[in-house]
Amino acid sequence: MKFTIQSGDLENQAKVTLIIGVFEQGELSPAAKRIDKKSGGFLSKILKNGDFSGKCGEAFLLLSVPAYKAQVLLVGCGANTTLNIRDFRKINAASIKTVQNASATHLISFLPELHVEKLDLPAKIKQAVQVSAATLYQFDEYKSQKSPPLKLKQMTFAVSDKKDLKTAQTALNQAIAIADGVTLTKNLANTPSNICTPSYLADAAKKLAQRYRSITVKVLEEKDMQKLGMGAFLSVTKGSRQAAKLVALEYKGSSKKQAPVALVGKGITFDTGGISLKPSDAMIGMKYDMCGAATVLGTLQAVADLKLPIHVVGILAVAENMPGGSASKPEDIVKTMSGINVEILNTDAEGRLVLCDALTYTERYKPAAVIDIATLTGAVVVALGHHATGLVANNDALAQELLDAGNETYDRAWPLPLWDEYQEQIRSPFADIVNTGGKGAGTITAACFLSRFAKKFAWAHLDVAGTAAMMMGLERYATGRPVPLLTQYLINRSEKKTK
Ligand code: BES
Ligand code: MN
Ligand code: ZN
Repeated sequence: MKFTIQSGDLENQAKVTLIIGVFEQGELSPAAKRIDKKSGGFLSKILKNGDFSGKCGEAFLLLSVPAYKAQVLLVGCGANTTLNIRDFRKINAASIKTVQNASATHLISFLPELHVEKLDLPAKIKQAVQVSAATLYQFDEYKSQKSPPLKLKQMTFAVSDKKDLKTAQTALNQAIAIADGVTLTKNLANTPSNICTPSYLADAAKKLAQRYRSITVKVLEEKDMQKLGMGAFLSVTKGSRQAAKLVALEYKGSSKKQAPVALVGKGITFDTGGISLKPSDAMIGMKYDMCGAATVLGTLQAVADLKLPIHVVGILAVAENMPGGSASKPEDIVKTMSGINVEILNTDAEGRLVLCDALTYTERYKPAAVIDIATLTGAVVVALGHHATGLVANNDALAQELLDAGNETYDRAWPLPLWDEYQEQIRSPFADIVNTGGKGAGTITAACFLSRFAKKFAWAHLDVAGTAAMMMGLERYATGRPVPLLTQYLINRSEKKTK
């Protein structure tokens, strides 16, 4: 689907579907008012008769309206003429769902004219694109019955004031890049682990580098990691027949020398738990344990599409966590690349073991900031559910920038403390630290572990175990989060830099 914006007279075309908002008490949005007037009160009649209630998220398709050649989709916006962001997202999703199965090919949405709490026009356009793209997303690669190709070809957002076109266009471009990045991330995440193996993920990174001149890639093999002394990373892959990969991507959007932002993604293509084997039910959804790495690829694609004038490094720590005769065992002690010795108390706490060496590897780029993205702990789902990503950082300014970017894109994160008191939970009687923090604060103690390897830079950790993918019975799907948050953070950063 192609997204565009336009201003001027858009209502009097043929072969389009106009999407307009109406309210519960019969109140009309500006576009609805115009159409009502020209059609001789056609819309008011429908509302008065009670044929359409205007409840938030209800949609009603009018195949013909007097004096108009277009179809009109009435979307209920609820009782309040100022919407909140959730309602705005709901009505955008509902509109797409309703027209998807109709014959519409070209939509003209007037929804950005509605008043939404805390959202200006660019932000409304961003939300509308995100939600529309997410609603249209399908993954039927492995279904023998493919869904029929989309009839919808184009969606145009009406901008009432011509002088807003420029900022609206910028927002639209950003939204499209983010939506495409989200789609890439979802596709990789949804691909099952018998296909999406470590080498498959490394190939996906290579493909990205082939598509964009601004991106280069390097893949480190196990023997390279051995040479670097990545004993923790390698301890995770020992039980697997799949070779682990450390993928290093670099995006250079400016010829100026500048310290990069590094994104480090957990890429466990399947997490059985290893010798500390997960129960069968807890293993469902563990193909999504590479969402951090997929997020790095989706974000890099968005950044490259937008040609942001910044320097970004992407590191993917990719391996499969399996039990087996040569797998690591509880109480094994391994040496990390940084020299810290780790006692593995639980082989299911594997994410931090691959990430710690990936973080140390990142030091060579002398990064201005490092952000790791990981489906790291079940505990973050207990703490924050599926709505907020857990954020832990050693730098308040970086943390705030990420929180802000999350709010801007409605891809929100929430902070947890990195206090010294928690560090005591990872003391080991035999090695320097253990890889599990025991009872309580599992998300924080996992972050404490990582923080030991993030001493040389400003660092933030995003625990996306609850937000990158949903697992609710039969409903299982990747969300593409936090690609919007990270891309927005990098957009904001690049704007600050160029000012
Ligand atoms: N990949 C899991 C975390 C996870 C859990 C992601 C649920 C998505 C949904 C991670 O590797 C893990 O197993 N963590 C353990 C850590 C524990 C052994 C300290 C956990 O959270 O139980
Ligand atoms: Mn695990
Ligand atoms: Zn895991």
